Amino acid sequence: MKIIFKTLEMFVLLTLIASCTKEYVTPTAELPTNVSFATDIQPIFTNNCVACHGGSTSPNLTASKAYASLTSNNLVVSGNASGSKLYSRMTGANGNSVMPPSGKLSTSDLNKVLVWINEGAKNN
Ligand code: HEC
Repeated sequence: MKIIFKTLEMFVLLTLIASCTKEYVTPTAELPTNVSFATDIQPIFTNNCVACHGGSTSPNLTASKAYASLTSNNLVVSGNASGSKLYSRMTGANGNSVMPPSGKLSTSDLNKVLVWINEGAKNN
């Protein structure tokens, strides 16, 4: 009789332990949060776009002009990245030719732009 109780005890204990262990989930292309235009987005433009978009080719993506240039030319629809020309050009969505022409930027950079627009495209 005692041995049966011991076995039962072990079973309950092991079941408890098993239910407490969380399954480890590998992070897959996590979206960033609290994206700032000045610290996260502008450097992407400065490093990859201003060589061409430095004034003569619209939009002007230099540090002092980029925000105004994107919003006044309706290239960004606040809260709607997939409906924004900036994002669709950068991802090549809807058959658009990709910006920069040399090829798509990293998923991490594209995700920053995605979240920045979806969080309201603030001049933050
Ligand atoms: C090698 C030069 C070059 C680079 C680098 C480049 N662009 Fe462009 N971009 C152009 C040219 C030329 C056009 C106009 C022709 C066209 O629409 O394809 C253009 C057009 C665009 C447009 C469409 C503007 C409109 O009014 O419809 C967007 C948005 C854009 N670029 C964003 C970017 C962004 C963002 C980057 C950097 C990630 C970038 N481009 C890098 C040359 C470049």
